[in-house]
Amino acid sequence: MNRKEELAKRIIVALDVGSREEALLLIGQLEDVEIFKMGIRLFTAEGPALLNEIKTSRKKVFLDLKLHDIPNTVAGAVKVAVRYGVHMLTLHSSGGREMMERAADAAKEEAEKEGTEKPLLLAVTVLTSLKSEQLHEIGMTADPARQVIKLAKLAREAGADGLVCSPQEIEIVKQEIGKDFLVVSPGIRPSWAAAQDQKRIMTPSLAFQKGADYLVIGRPIIEAASPQKAFLRIVEESKCP
Ligand code: C5P
Repeated sequence: MNRKEELAKRIIVALDVGSREEALLLIGQLEDVEIFKMGIRLFTAEGPALLNEIKTSRKKVFLDLKLHDIPNTVAGAVKVAVRYGVHMLTLHSSGGREMMERAADAAKEEAEKEGTEKPLLLAVTVLTSLKSEQLHEIGMTADPARQVIKLAKLAREAGADGLVCSPQEIEIVKQEIGKDFLVVSPGIRPSWAAAQDQKRIMTPSLAFQKGADYLVIGRPIIEAASPQKAFLRIVEESKCP
């Protein structure tokens, strides 16, 4: 695999669409993409049946349901996700230590039982759509970067494999939590794309240079006239140290 191919595998495309047809159309168009993210909108519309279809098309699924509930309920959901062969999944670190520990144990046990790969558990810290003022409104008075570090430490201790964070926090997370703790960054915008509702954005190239393991990109690719061309342009423009 050459450098560009390797980089292409680290760009996750967010299937932020509302139906199976739209999702499968995008998957068909984006032949070089390895991992597709299914979030709450598509999951609510099409559920596990589509998960199975994506799997049979030999693509990997990042199930971004941002689980946040009592430990027993989250552990139960994680077990089901393992049975669907999900490659990555998210849970809110603000759900607390016990919730994350139970999720990590459930992922390991169920994968062993099924003889499959354990999914990567990614903790969500602070949504990239929230600015300081908005965080204040919900009672989060700490600086967003400090809050991310606090939650990332907790997630690592509780057994998560990595976290989802804004590109602004990639460097500090790698420094303070460890290089082997995976960093997945949304809030990515090529210079030619509109920011939309994302507040703390960065270009793909810079995010890779800062140490992101994976980037999550939605609208700049899926709303482009040609998603495949937009994806290839992003790969072409990306540099990695
Ligand atoms: O279209 P866009 O590139 O902004 O999509 C970003 C994707 O990443 C969306 O699916 C969004 O739900 C997700 N995400 C995010 N911020 C987080 C976690 C996930 O934008 N902190």
